[in-house]
Parts: sequence; C-alpha cells; structure tokens
Amino acid sequence: MTVLEATPFSTLIRDASHQQHTEAENSAFMGDLLGGRLGVGAFRGYTEQLWFVYRALEGVADRLADDPVAGPFIRPELFRTTALERDLDHLHDGADWRAALRPLPATEAYAARVMEVARDWPGGYVAHHYTRYLGDLSGGQIIRSTAERRYGFARKGDGVRFYVFEGIANPAAFKREYRSLLDALPAREPERLRIVDECKRAFALNTAVFGDLESAAA
Ligand code: HEM
Repeated sequence: MTVLEATPFSTLIRDASHQQHTEAENSAFMGDLLGGRLGVGAFRGYTEQLWFVYRALEGVADRLADDPVAGPFIRPELFRTTALERDLDHLHDGADWRAALRPLPATEAYAARVMEVARDWPGGYVAHHYTRYLGDLSGGQIIRSTAERRYGFARKGDGVRFYVFEGIANPAAFKREYRSLLDALPAREPERLRIVDECKRAFALNTAVFGDLESAAA
C-alpha cells in the first residue's frame, strides 16, 4: 500500500481540492450575491443554472444505481431537481419558466461534462457528485441563511428549498456516512488521483458558471 492509499480518500479529496474551494467561495459572483450587491434576479439566475446542473447529475441516477463505484452514492434524499423546480416556480411568481430557460455557456459545458463521465467513467461521476452534494450540505447552509436574510425568503421555504434536505434529519451524520463511502471506494491509486483531478475540474466548472453569472449580472 502506498502512502497515498493509506490516506482516507475523503481526506485526500477534501485537502487536494481546498484551493479550488477557496477560489469558488471567493468568486466575485458569490461575494456580490451574498454581500447584497446583486438583486434577487441574480439569485434567480443562479438557481436557474443549478437546475441544468442537477438535471444532468440526477438524470443519470437510475442508470448508475447498480454501478459498483457510483451506485452507493445515488441516494434519493439528496435529489435536488424537485426542490429547484419549486424554488423556480416561486422565483418566477408562478409563471411558466421552462420554455424560455437557457443554460449559460459555462453551465452547458458543466452539464455536458457530467453527462460524459456518467456515460463511461463512474469514478468521474463520483467526483462531480461529491463536489456538489457535500458542498450543498456544508457551505450551502451558509448560502441559504444569507439568501433568506437578503431576499426575504421564509426560513427554509420557497426560494431556498434547494438548500433544505427534508429527507436528511442529521446532516453531520449523513456527511460522516458519505465520507465513509468515499473511503470505501473500490479504486486504487491511479484511479483515485484521476478522481481527485476530476473534482478539481468540477470546482473549476462551478467557478466558470459564477464567471458567466457575474457577466450576466453586470
Ligand atoms: C459562499 C460560498 C461557499 C461557502 C461559504 C462554503 C463554505 C463551506 C464550509 C464552511 C465547508 C465546511 C463544512 C464542514 O466541514 O462540514 C464547506 C465544505 C464544502 N464545500 Fe463549500 N462553500 C462555498 C461554496 C462552495 C462551492 C461553490 C462548492 C462547489 C461547487 C463547494 C463545495 C464544498 C464541498 C465539496 C465541501 C465538503 C468538503 C469536505 O468536507 O470534504 N463549496 N464549504
């Protein structure tokens, strides 16, 4: 066993993506959104782009459910598409938003990459799964409470349901369990390193979406 293989994979992937996390967290768009320099339209725009990302992540769930690598991560209590749709109904005042909605170029590239790895590389899909869902369960809660305050949404109500995991009573316990799934990933060193690289790429794809959203909001 190499030193790298002796490190729990959950620790490896978190530590290796730390810098990319800082970049995403400190993006101008996130700062402006949470700092109150952008209106609710920018928050709606962000929620719209997330809808494309989660449709890509969750549209392949059935197909991957029995996969030995990705299957254990497919947990319906994580699914966000329905919550996003409720938020979008609210953010569009009940108007039909689906027909006119378009992904920004960076979102299109992000969703395409998720679908590409889902097709032929389950380990790569796990990298994307981790980057979004563990983030939503963590920093997502900070985004939710700030958005509630800034934009006047009801606590855990319409507009911010995306950040509320109704089916997860104890997020800390869920995250511990998720990390043990990562640690148990049936993959050796070269594959683990490839997954870590894909995680960095997933963060970069998120940062690119923030870049497009910042330009759209300007
Ligand atoms: C304002 C924006 C953000 C804030 C304030 C934030 C904050 C945090 C915090 C405090 C944690 C640690 C929670 C814990 O240890 O339980 C965390 C973890 C995480 N965040 Fe973020 N985050 C932000 C944006 C993002 C973005 C854009 C992504 C990726 C799309 C992301 C992905 C993650 C992931 C994957 C983890 C889990 C790390 C691990 O424990 O393995 N975060 N975030």
